[in-house]
Amino acid sequence: MNEKLIVLREEILKCRKCGLAQSRHHVIFGEGNLCAPIFLIGEAPGREEDLIGRPFVGKSGLLLDKILEACGFTRNEHVFISNVVKCRPPGNRVPTQQQVAVCLPWLLMQIELIDPKIIVLLGATALRYMAGPDYRISRDRGKWISCCGRLAISVYHPAALIRNPQLKRETWEDFKKIVMKYRELVDPHHYSHYL
Ligand code: URA
Repeated sequence: MNEKLIVLREEILKCRKCGLAQSRHHVIFGEGNLCAPIFLIGEAPGREEDLIGRPFVGKSGLLLDKILEACGFTRNEHVFISNVVKCRPPGNRVPTQQQVAVCLPWLLMQIELIDPKIIVLLGATALRYMAGPDYRISRDRGKWISCCGRLAISVYHPAALIRNPQLKRETWEDFKKIVMKYRELVDPHHYSHYL
């Protein structure tokens, strides 16, 4: 059990450091294995996530679950899923730089305590704030990079795949790389039906 993370969770759930606290229904701490080898980072909770209190439970989440399943990964065992900001920006807007600046330390503490082997940045916002403003998702997705001194890779956000299904092909290639790296670093016998 990751005791420190449980204490951190209590603090995060009480956070009122930015204006998003006024309109939110839930703070979305994240979910998954508290010692997960893979840490997935999205942008911000959407409407469904805000109402239910869990990350990636709307349309994007269903697609993400399908991708994880194809890789042989489950939310409970292989991954922890969180976001750059933990409360929903009204109207599902991209979080502002100021909102990210206030919220990001929570995510960095989560990463330290979970200590993943691989970080997966879901989409442009996660890539920008976690790896740096010079990265571009269309150019840099699928490349191994460094993020918080750890091995990371960015992929298109599931919402982008819903808007533009043509991106699914490249995304599958990116997730194949993640499965290969997982076998190399974590479990050489990891089973995936498709790979
Ligand atoms: N999109 C995100 O980036 N995060 C969520 O939790 C849900 C949708």
